[in-house]
Amino acid sequence: MVPLKNRSNLISLVDLLMDDQFHTGSVLAMKLGITKTAVWKMIQQLKGYGVQLEAIKGKGYRLIQPLQLLDIDRIKTFLTAQQAIIENIIILTSVDSTNTYLKNQLAQQRLPLSICLTEQQTAGRGRLGRSWFSPFGANIYLSLSWKSQQAISELNGLSLIIGVAVIKALKEFGLSEGIGIKWPNDIYYQDQKLAGILVEIVAERHSGTQVIIGIGMNVNMLHQQQAPIDKAWTSIEHMTQQYQDRNILVGILLKAIIAELENIQQQHSPAASLAEWKKYDVLYEKAITLSHHGKELSGIGKGINEQGHLLLLMADGALLPCSSGETSIKQFSI
Ligand code: BTN
Repeated sequence: MVPLKNRSNLISLVDLLMDDQFHTGSVLAMKLGITKTAVWKMIQQLKGYGVQLEAIKGKGYRLIQPLQLLDIDRIKTFLTAQQAIIENIIILTSVDSTNTYLKNQLAQQRLPLSICLTEQQTAGRGRLGRSWFSPFGANIYLSLSWKSQQAISELNGLSLIIGVAVIKALKEFGLSEGIGIKWPNDIYYQDQKLAGILVEIVAERHSGTQVIIGIGMNVNMLHQQQAPIDKAWTSIEHMTQQYQDRNILVGILLKAIIAELENIQQQHSPAASLAEWKKYDVLYEKAITLSHHGKELSGIGKGINEQGHLLLLMADGALLPCSSGETSIKQFSI
């Protein structure tokens, strides 16, 4: 993990390099108030993370692709109503998985909500044991560790509600056209995956349930970068044809998720959020195939029931509820 002081220097260095021009080590060192060696070390560090930099003797360094690092000062401008939460946000430079990190830190977490973001995950995890490709500085890798006062049975729809929060955030960001949710909570744009959510129930005590909510959103990842992802995917940069500042998206996302968690905590019925979910159901009335306990099931998507289980209309007319965790959608058509 990069120490905090170094991280703020790293952010400033990357900001200076964002103008597509060359900058010599001496000028960068002077502007940052550090030594040329320290600048060189940070440049090596960025290269080590896979950041593409051009270095020409006499001219200095230039970023080949745009890059803006995660910056708490930019993120917190979106969380003015959640001041206390800002203290609980940790931004790492690289970690195996933000979900795993928060799980390992549980004993130190005194408050109901702790948040972790990172520039890169070396062992990012997806649902059903899959991995989540997490290149440096490109996307959002965000986890929230939440001590809910609810029992597990009361958190049935949580993973779907987080999907709704992500959709609300994307809308606030200005993207709604063509966005949908593939049960339970994959966020799709047209027929390409944009974001995924991994909700892990860590423990249930008499006082409530400890949950880790992980969100991965493709922001500035480009197809030219040849991501090892075996399904069709997109990113916000692909959708908008513009490099995006992840800090804005993180701020909006956190605000939307925290609002949903507060609703749950105040025992508001999830009905409104689940009704919102149904508006985005890309599988509704579509012929789909599910793998369920190692078996393949085919049917027509009929939305969800009150528990958030997918309803499949089978050939014999039966409506089969499929619970999360055991079920994965193998194919679908939009
Ligand atoms: C999926 O669609 O399979 C879920 C992907 C969830 C990925 C996020 S990235 C942040 C958090 N840390 C992880 O290791 N996974 C989640």
